[in-house]
Amino acid sequence: MEQLVEALKKAQATSFAFYLKAHNYHWNVEGHSFSEYHAFLGDLYAEVWGAVDAIAEHIRTLDAYAPGSFTRFQQLSSIEDEMSVPTGRMMMAKLLADNQRVLSDLMAAHREAEMLGKRGIVNFLEDRIDIHEKHGWMLRSFTKGE
Ligand SMILES: [Fe+2]
Repeated sequence: MEQLVEALKKAQATSFAFYLKAHNYHWNVEGHSFSEYHAFLGDLYAEVWGAVDAIAEHIRTLDAYAPGSFTRFQQLSSIEDEMSVPTGRMMMAKLLADNQRVLSDLMAAHREAEMLGKRGIVNFLEDRIDIHEKHGWMLRSFTKGE
């Protein structure tokens, strides 16, 4: 059970870091495709924001405490913090790489949930994996062409 809780905490922190980076980029993106990027990033951060809450509540279901501070998120997250303002296209490339990190943390938690037969958490994580694969498709599409 302890490994599942730890894997979910990591998935929560990585999802929070991903959410924050998408929101940061939504605020600061510039350029001729501003409105497309701004709108896409708005949908992206809002979708992942909802998942952070759901992961935390699954941790509470397992009678453990969910991380909720910058310090803990920083310790647990697989995503590097963003301190600069990249170009729109670079933002998409960074989020695409980070999306892979979210996916691997979700898959690690999924393996632990499978081993314990926690069907509800397995199903929840499968939905998250599916959604992040879709986010990956869109982010990848932004980085191609032109
Ligand atoms: Fe906004």
